[in-house]
Amino acid sequence: MQLIDGKLISEQIKAEIAKEVKLIKEVGGKIPHLAAILVGNDGASETYVAHKVKDCEQVGFTSTLLRFDASITEEMLITEIKKVNANSDIDGLIVQLPIPKHISEAKIIETIDPAKDVDGFHPINMGRMVIGLPSYISATPAGIIELLRRYKIQTAGKNCVVIGRSNIVGKPISNLLAQKSDVGDATVTMCHSRTQNLEEICLRADIIIAALGKPEFVTAAMVKEGAVVIDVGITRLTSDKTKNGFKLVGDVKFNEVAPKCSFITPVPGGVGPMTRVSLLQNTLLSAKKAIYC
Ligand code: GUN
Repeated sequence: MQLIDGKLISEQIKAEIAKEVKLIKEVGGKIPHLAAILVGNDGASETYVAHKVKDCEQVGFTSTLLRFDASITEEMLITEIKKVNANSDIDGLIVQLPIPKHISEAKIIETIDPAKDVDGFHPINMGRMVIGLPSYISATPAGIIELLRRYKIQTAGKNCVVIGRSNIVGKPISNLLAQKSDVGDATVTMCHSRTQNLEEICLRADIIIAALGKPEFVTAAMVKEGAVVIDVGITRLTSDKTKNGFKLVGDVKFNEVAPKCSFITPVPGGVGPMTRVSLLQNTLLSAKKAIYC
């Protein structure tokens, strides 16, 4: 069994990005600039956005954090997004989700200029991805593809089972793995809460992507010997065995599943750090006008 070290790979990619930014600076080129909008003061969102800002600093990007009170109206938020769309110095814009219930998430995402949508959530980017046109691919699926690529895990002709059908993970990763590409050409089955005989389907999988958000859902009985298991889940559970009183667990029962695998991602330190680095990659692509010219 080999652990897929997302932390290590993400550090390597960050070093590659930092090197490229240094070169851009030397020739007086456009320094990538990411803007993040944070509405309200949800604790987890505060942490995620703080990490994104720190990542930008680490690789030499410019970042702007725009904070708004949870009481902001949908109309006002749309106005603020349009200002960022019109600001030619800003290459990438993300609106940290979730946003307050009185604001339509779909409307907000559709207001972001697709050319600055480095989260890859805009329907135009999603649609372009599905038909194989250049697009921003959302961070978690892009991170998974990069891990499979860098660990040289063969996907062509393999049976791949994706558990979960969310817009930001299950749907895009299922699509990407089925596409004709270097990390693709897999036979993909997308499973969800209404799937019947899930255990049987998983037992046929060469690659399992667990992205349903249920802690330790995938057990050894669902995994065939030699399978590759990618764990996207991350849930904070209370624990009396750790100093801080909690532990992070994935969607996979790691201790019993790992011995059966050829490769497996740990939680934390697997897919999570790759998600952060994908956002930087997309922002760099935007500054270089690599997707939308
Ligand atoms: N909330 C949880 N994950 C994400 C993400 O990848 N992007 C944004 N914008 N919000 C999130």
